[in-house]
Amino acid sequence: MTKEPTSTIQRERVLVVDDDKAFRVATKTLLEDEGYGVVLATSGEEALSALRANNVDIMLSDLVMTKMTGIQLLEKVKAIHPHLMVIMVTGFGSISTAVEAMHLGATDYLTKPCNNTELLLKIRRALDAQQKDRELRQLREQLHATYSFGNMLSRSEKMKNVMQSIRQVADTDVTILIQGESGTGKELVARALHYNSNRSEKPFVAVNCSAIPENLLESELFGHEKGAFTGAMKQKAGKFEEGNGGTLFLDEIGDLAPTVQTKLLRVLQEKIFERVGGNTPIKVDTRIVAATNRNLEMMTRDGDFREDLFFRLNVFPIHLPPLRERLEDIPMLAEHFLTRHADLSGGRVKSISPLVITDMMNYNWRGNIRELENLMKRAIIKTTGETIMTIELPTNEHAPSTAKEPIAEVDLNTPYKDYISAIVRDAEEKYLTRMLRLYKGNINQIAKLMEIDRKTVYRKMAEYSIDPATFREAN
Ligand SMILES: Nc1ncnc2c1ncn2[C@@H]1O[C@H](COP(=O)(O)OP(=O)(O)OP(=O)(O)O)[C@@H](O)[C@H]1O
Ligand SMILES: [Mg+2]
Repeated sequence: MTKEPTSTIQRERVLVVDDDKAFRVATKTLLEDEGYGVVLATSGEEALSALRANNVDIMLSDLVMTKMTGIQLLEKVKAIHPHLMVIMVTGFGSISTAVEAMHLGATDYLTKPCNNTELLLKIRRALDAQQKDRELRQLREQLHATYSFGNMLSRSEKMKNVMQSIRQVADTDVTILIQGESGTGKELVARALHYNSNRSEKPFVAVNCSAIPENLLESELFGHEKGAFTGAMKQKAGKFEEGNGGTLFLDEIGDLAPTVQTKLLRVLQEKIFERVGGNTPIKVDTRIVAATNRNLEMMTRDGDFREDLFFRLNVFPIHLPPLRERLEDIPMLAEHFLTRHADLSGGRVKSISPLVITDMMNYNWRGNIRELENLMKRAIIKTTGETIMTIELPTNEHAPSTAKEPIAEVDLNTPYKDYISAIVRDAEEKYLTRMLRLYKGNINQIAKLMEIDRKTVYRKMAEYSIDPATFREAN
């Protein structure tokens, strides 16, 4: 029965390379009957140009050809198209060459004279494997894109320095300690470190040290032998073994119980440990990234955290600044979450009023970026139009704004007019600086919002020796 050829776009293409005409013709008919597209080449050179001109999914090539041999062709093809599937066809008695071809990256081989069923089966199998490979690669790339730098936004100098550190240290094996308040992006950094390292194809294993009861954490991390304790029905590998070759992320390391601290110290020193209830030393190559929102140094002084462990962890510290110390990141992050959570309003809400952004920049963000994300989500849901006009910021947590700053002790010797004018000038300077920072030195926009003309804005800036250029994007 002849199969209906599938549409040209979907049809898989086979490149058949052989200097033997009879084989080419027979194979072409066989494959076309099966619904494949077929491209023919009579030599290695022809095959290479056919690959340039066509989208080919798999190559079927003879091993013994005049001029360029099948092996030479294979090497060239693999260098240019590393993911192309290649099946080598060999005459009887040259199995050793076929094996060499497999080492060079061929997918499979067939012996001549070919059995049609076998040929079709091997081609199908190779193409299915390729499809799986492609899907895996795509998934992996998606994962990479999610946790690579692309997803970690930074505009402030402070965050740019953090990104720079991540880049420098990602591809090394040194232990990293990420410190920062809750919600500052510690886990995001840990993942970025992993997915930008040469360990990225290996597992990223995360353990939240504060979420697991003390008596279970040790076996969770190091595994246990059968019968190590009641309930240990069989031997179990711990997270250290799971993360072998990859990265183990120890989150909330400040909450680690003293017994586990001791055992962790030993792994960091010797890269060796035993499962709970066992005495076989296990060696692993697991990179440690730890994170905490507590002040570990202070904890060591209070005796709550082993000092030697702290030093071992703190080989390369990364400090994530709280959001209130990088207010200039707020507009970009707000936009980012608006896009990310657009679905919450079915895509209706499209923008944020600059006044809302100004409010956000006056808030102290104790929950940092996570809090910003949550408040944005809530605002998107509550907004009825296209623009977010208000955002509910927990009022009691407002940072003291300029207006509420304690006013300097009144000096009655200063003439009243001078005193008031000094305060106004001070407030005006702060106001202008903040606007410039928020709108990145865009005078048009600032003038519009202040409802004064551009000239006046420029005059005032000159008066306070403010240079708008310093607020414009560096790049
Ligand atoms: N620089 C950034 N750009 C974009 N999103 C960010 C950034 N930093 C953090 N986020 C987002 O903010 C949220 C909180 O980040 P994350 O979970 O990494 O914080 P954390 O420091 O581990 O918090 P906690 O201490 O509460 O565990 C996540 O949704 C994360 O994607
Ligand atoms: Mg976290």
